[in-house]
Amino acid sequence: MDKLEITGGIPLEGEVAISGAKNAALPILAATLLADGPVTLANVPHLNDVTTTVKLLRRMGVEITFNDGKTIEVDPRNASHFVAPYELVKTMRASILVLGPLVGRFGHAEVSLPGGCAIGSRPVNIHVGGLRAMGADISIENGYIRARTKRLRGARLVLETTTVTGTENLMMAAACARGESVIENAAREPEVVDLADCLAAMGARIEGAGTDTIHVQGTDRLGGAEHHVMPDRIETGTYLVAGAITGGRVTAKKTRPEHLDAVLQKLEEAGARIELGENSVTLDMGGRRPRAVDIRTAPYPAFPTDMQAQFCALNAVADGVSAITETIFENRFQHALEMQRMGANLRVEGNTVICHGVDALAGAPVMATDLRASASLVLAGAAARGTTIIDRIYHIDRGYECIEEKLAQLGAAIRRLAS
Ligand code: EPU
Repeated sequence: MDKLEITGGIPLEGEVAISGAKNAALPILAATLLADGPVTLANVPHLNDVTTTVKLLRRMGVEITFNDGKTIEVDPRNASHFVAPYELVKTMRASILVLGPLVGRFGHAEVSLPGGCAIGSRPVNIHVGGLRAMGADISIENGYIRARTKRLRGARLVLETTTVTGTENLMMAAACARGESVIENAAREPEVVDLADCLAAMGARIEGAGTDTIHVQGTDRLGGAEHHVMPDRIETGTYLVAGAITGGRVTAKKTRPEHLDAVLQKLEEAGARIELGENSVTLDMGGRRPRAVDIRTAPYPAFPTDMQAQFCALNAVADGVSAITETIFENRFQHALEMQRMGANLRVEGNTVICHGVDALAGAPVMATDLRASASLVLAGAAARGTTIIDRIYHIDRGYECIEEKLAQLGAAIRRLAS
């Protein structure tokens, strides 16, 4: 298993190009199942989760060609095997995103239940309940969701909890149902909007994506299309925190600053100077130590749970006492316990981490438990005195493209230790 070794204490400076968003690319790849012609996707990030999705679609008979590093052509016309097997779903929960398109387009799906994961129980009852309300006959047997229908019919769906992939699954299913669907209490994340834009390019009629009420007029057929995947706002935030935690100056290029309001506000509160360009954000910490910031995660546009771990690293070395409250996932503080091993002065109380910032962390061997936890440990390592070795970085490779190259470009002393 590969590890990352990082020697901290260097202020990170320079520019970093942001990749396409993982959490937009995954639903958009699933959405190609709805098309009756080829779909060309640009700015697809090179990540293990994308590779897993490609593998899943190919098993269904979808033809996928990589034109160059970032543009892929997906031809779903020969899709015929509507199964997402356990062996793939267990490595990537987002496989659940094929459920809506398969039921909507082919009236048949067998998708392994994802089960719990390192950050929480993460049920999919809202995905299943929504499809049932649209007329799908669904049973849960032997660990699989088995769904059948002649054709879905539009329905009014009031989501019990705001769910990102739940909203995406139901929006994709509704795009080819008979009649109108309304999704209320829908997730407003920019990735939902990017998916809606791609579906619209395929011919879907969707209004309100990005608000909490989405109207979808089902259509009989969706066609091929071209789409450019949006930039990754969480990757952007992660590199900005890398600048802040090391007292450096980092410009994230090829990004969308308007997707980062809550994160940028907290970085400013931490003492960073932020400058926005049309497609870039520059963070300048001017060598200062960050100030501790209180955070409460919540659905977009509030502070994202996917940036919580990175801010936990920032608070660990900040001046002051902070409280970070996680409201989305019940077990997303594993990184905090690893940071304690680096000398962080923090304690977990229920869904809150109380942190007294220390002058410096000390490098240590640590272990990553999920994607964002791994990123936060890399950040902690970049700020720490001495060398940190982060184990189990396959988590990082699921969601950060070339992290060690990008950080090295900013001046970090980082290298991958191959197993
Ligand atoms: N929930 C239910 N029932 C459901 C679905 C969700 O109770 O049927 C609950 C969850 O347990 C959780 C809350 O609703 O408490 C919100 O979870 P959500 O469904 O929004 O999460 P998700 O769609 O499974 C996506 C991202 C996650 C990100 C969350 C929250 C993708 C592929 N994944 O997950 O990304 O943390 O939204 O923003 O889009 C990551 O990239 O590291 C990551 C975990």
